[in-house]
Parts: sequence; C-alpha cells; structure tokens
Amino acid sequence: MSFEELRLDGVSRSFGGHAALAGLDLTIKRGEFIALLGPSGCGKSTALNCLAGLLPLTRGSIWQDEARLDVLPPERRGFGMVFQNYALFPHLPVRKNIAFGLQMRRVPRAEIRRRVDEALRLVHLEDQAGKLPGQLSGGQQQRVAIARAVVLEPSLVLMDEPLSNLDAKLRLEMRTEIRRLHQSLGLTTVYVTHDQEEALSLADRLVVLRAGRVQQIGTPEQLHTEPANWHVADFMGYRNLLPLKAGARRGAGVVVEVEGRELLGTPVGDLAPGSDVIAGTRPEDLTIGPAGGTGVPATVEVVEYQGREVAVEARTPGGIPLNLRSVDRPAVGDRITVTVEPRRLLVFPADGA
Ligand SMILES: Nc1ncnc2c1ncn2[C@@H]1O[C@H](COP(=O)(O)OP(=O)(O)OP(=O)(O)O)[C@@H](O)[C@H]1O
Ligand SMILES: [Mg+2]
Repeated sequence: MSFEELRLDGVSRSFGGHAALAGLDLTIKRGEFIALLGPSGCGKSTALNCLAGLLPLTRGSIWQDEARLDVLPPERRGFGMVFQNYALFPHLPVRKNIAFGLQMRRVPRAEIRRRVDEALRLVHLEDQAGKLPGQLSGGQQQRVAIARAVVLEPSLVLMDEPLSNLDAKLRLEMRTEIRRLHQSLGLTTVYVTHDQEEALSLADRLVVLRAGRVQQIGTPEQLHTEPANWHVADFMGYRNLLPLKAGARRGAGVVVEVEGRELLGTPVGDLAPGSDVIAGTRPEDLTIGPAGGTGVPATVEVVEYQGREVAVEARTPGGIPLNLRSVDRPAVGDRITVTVEPRRLLVFPADGA
C-alpha cells in the first residue's frame, strides 16, 4: 500500500484534560524521513501512537492521500513499528521472529523464506538466523526488530527511540544502518528521539515539540541556523542563552548589553526596546580573544579535552557562565575576551513561543 502523502490535521490527544498533544499539523511526503524531537514528556510517543492507531485521537484526523486513516485499527493501516525495547518473541529464533508477521498475513511459504532471507541480509544477520533473541547483543536484537518491521514492506515505518538502549558506539553504527535501510528500501519513516544530534543526522525534516505543541518544522539546516524561538535554540545546541534586555535597533541588528559591553545580535521576531530577551549562541560561534580586547571579559574556569578542540567554560566578572569551543587551548584562570559575529547571536523574545 503506497501513498503520495500522509496528512496529520490538527491531531490532538488529551489524558484526563491534560493535552499531551495539541493540534499537530504535518504533511509527510512518500520517501521522507521525519524526526519528532523534544524533551521527555513533550508528546513524541503520543504522536507516534496516534499515527500507529494504538491511541485514539481526541481531536483531528489523519489522511493517507484521500483516505481517512484515523478511523482504521492499527493492523489495517499497514505501518511497521520499532520500539525502544525491541519487543521480540523470546522463545522464537531470529528467523521466526522476522517471519511472524508474514505468517499472520498468510503469505505463501516460499515467499516468506525469500523475504526473510532478504531482510536478514539487509540487517547483516544471516549468520544469526537460528539463534534466540537472548543469545544476541542489544544491537543485534534491535536489528531483528527492524528487520521484522521492514519485511512487511510497510507504507510507513514508525520508530520510537529505537537506539536508546544501545551503547554509544553501537548507536552510531545503527544510526547509519537505519538511514541506509530507509534509502535502499525507499521507506517513509517517522522517528522519535530526544537526541538532537541523532535527529539532525537522520532526518530530512524535524518536528520540534514542546509541551504537546509544535515549535518548529524544518530541515536540519533551517532548525540549526534559524531556530524559531529560544526553546528550539536550546534544543539545537545554543548552549549560551543569556537573559538580557533589548537595546536600540542598529540597521538590521539589535544591540544587547552584557555587563556594560555592547554586542550586536540578530533579532528573531519583534523586540521592543527595553523588553526582556534571550540572546542565544552556540559554543563554536564564540571567539576567544586576549584580555583587554573589545569583547565581553571573562575568566576561564574549565577546559575539557574533546579531540581536536577543547570545550571551555568561562565566567564574566558578573557571574554569567559562557560555553565556548576552541582549537587554542586556554588554561584555567586565563583572562580572555569573548566576541561573536552579529549573525551568530540570535536575540529572541523572552516569552518564547
Ligand atoms: N496513558 C497515559 N495516561 C496519562 N497520561 C499520559 C499517558 N501517556 C502519556 N501521558 C502524558 O502525556 C505527556 C506526553 O507523553 P509522551 O509519552 O508522549 O512523551 P514523550 O515525548 O514520548 O516523552 P519521553 O521522551 O519521556 O518518552 C506526558 O505528560 C505524559 O505524562
Ligand atoms: Mg516517549
């Protein structure tokens, strides 16, 4: 069952009056990889379960091209699901775990064999086909779970934090694997994660949720360079979020003052002079200069080795912490000044979305 687009129209779900998901509008094109991203409790799993049909909607509708989908039970939607906890049958060997859904659909034996072989090959588990799940590593088990979902050739694959039980190295490997499968099988994927880096590296488009509401939908680049509000910025690695006051406009920019030093930033939205703002910048966009320079003075407090670069935590005389990255290696106690290009300092209204 293929489709051109899948449309979520005001999809909402409440639990006892509490809106876990409030009015999600999203159109997913065939072949797209969509990530749902946001902090714990923001409604990611709720959204996925509404799509899967595991949770009825409180309001809104879901459409596959012209067909209404939210009225159908899960098994009639033709979606594949991969969960964080694998949910494999412990008493069945790998091959039978993968074949299970095909057997339920009464697919002929020879075809089951062919499709299971293909799925095993795709996830590189040909040699493990006879083992029980308990005899496999976490990563191998997760690959079985993925094979079991894709063997059904679902029109949409839904994944809820599928890598969060794996160690860091395996997580990176499986990330590449998932993207490869998505591409080589021509899947359409909706992927839930609270890991910003994972979402950015996997998805064609990201949906950032907060407290059940969409904050922004965009490509990784759009979210990275043009976060819509400071909550999204926070999620996109803008580690420095300084509560300040908006100063005068200067050209397209806006002046903000950090402990008596003027910085020029880029306004995001309307900012009345004197209003509360949050000025956000990423560690890699702050530049360290020598003491007595034109920027904001600070003292280095922590230097953390991170390969080619170091992560630096510095503090202004007034006590504002600043996170920086640098290829130079300042020493703890060094006095520095910190500058930032105006286009890398985003100034948001403090009241957020
Ligand atoms: N069955 C339920 N009954 C009552 N409240 C629920 C239920 N399921 C979810 N919620 C609430 O809805 C909100 C969203 O939950 P959801 O599971 O969608 O969050 P999430 O973004 O997936 O979080 P996490 O990253 O922790 O998995 C939370 O406040 C949660 O407590
Ligand atoms: Mg969840």
